[in-house]
Amino acid sequence: MQSTSKIDQLIPIPDNLAKLTYQTFQQGKSYFGLAHKALTTQLLNLISPRVEIKSKPVPPEVIPKLQQRMNQIIEADWQDAERGVYPQSVLFDNPWSDFFRYYPVLCLDTLQIWQRANQKRYQEFSPDIAMDGYPSYYLQNFHHQTDGYLSDWSANLYDLQVEILFGGTADPMRRRILAPLKQALKAFDSTPPQQIRILDVACGTGRTLKLIRDALPKASLFGVDLSPAYLRKANQLLTENQGELPQLLQANGEELPYVDNYFHATTSVFLFHELPAAARQRVIEESFRVTQPGGVFIICDSIQMSDSPELKPLMENFHEMFHEPYYKHYITDDLVERLDKAGFTDITTEVHFMSKYLIARKPLV
Ligand SMILES: C[S@@+](CC[C@H](N)C(=O)[O-])C[C@H]1O[C@@H](n2cnc3c(N)ncnc32)[C@H](O)[C@@H]1O
Repeated sequence: MQSTSKIDQLIPIPDNLAKLTYQTFQQGKSYFGLAHKALTTQLLNLISPRVEIKSKPVPPEVIPKLQQRMNQIIEADWQDAERGVYPQSVLFDNPWSDFFRYYPVLCLDTLQIWQRANQKRYQEFSPDIAMDGYPSYYLQNFHHQTDGYLSDWSANLYDLQVEILFGGTADPMRRRILAPLKQALKAFDSTPPQQIRILDVACGTGRTLKLIRDALPKASLFGVDLSPAYLRKANQLLTENQGELPQLLQANGEELPYVDNYFHATTSVFLFHELPAAARQRVIEESFRVTQPGGVFIICDSIQMSDSPELKPLMENFHEMFHEPYYKHYITDDLVERLDKAGFTDITTEVHFMSKYLIARKPLV
């Protein structure tokens, strides 16, 4: 196996030990997520027993299915690193300094979140936040987050919140786009790697861009997002870590500020479930417009009813517990039809753990 971490070079680690270490690392994150949820629920009951967030009990037969899916994604992640899709060291990447800095803040924030959720206050923003120029569907406290996507406070807590929600599998889920991305870029083998342009739509705090950079260090990367605060956070993450800094722009995915056919690949991770149907279609059409003929568009988002009916109770709870106003429609939406309508062809889908992937090609003219 190709090994890139400095420790590996000093002390050769047998393959099975490295794999076991990775599995244990992931298991630790998963237990941490569970412990956090259990502890905060108990604490909330003590402090504020009247606060109640409704959720349906998850049928016991769903739990082993979920565990199986989690094991499968960890195995797939390991296998992709093993066959060199990305360096093995990426598997152990974790924003530790953010964790120690912001975990206490996140705990403090939880009470506010639960109170807002209980009182059904879904559009509450700090008075100093400029609200002009955003589409109205965006001005929401998604996941009951303090300030929605519109403050540095929210941007600093977001990755940690997602890590806890998915038991440490947010990056393994994001990394599932990398193998199909690299595969699709083989169509541009004669293009120098530095001239390959990849856009991430709704790049948020930049984690997907960082992962793409880990896998394709020479490519020119671009990211857009509506949130200035999340772009600041992305800029910080991508500057702190080695590599070319992607070009980041504040923009709506429905109106991408790029000329036609500019990118060899376009990606979008965890955006579509937060858009109303019409905006979903417009983002797909814009992604089609800016992608080169022969290029690829890859979506990673939540599972849907059609691919994971056995996880219906979890999807229903997600929509109830985390303020996700467009999720109910999203889980029954036909994204293949939308991609097809925009002009994409060769559309394939994959499902890994709690995520669905759509890989679509813009046909050559
Ligand atoms: C759930 S987060 C996902 C962020 C990131 N892709 C990730 O993997 O964590 C959704 C992101 O979409 C952005 N967003 C929502 N609607 C958007 C739109 N119409 N155009 C651009 N960004 C949008 C939000 O600001 C937020 O950063």
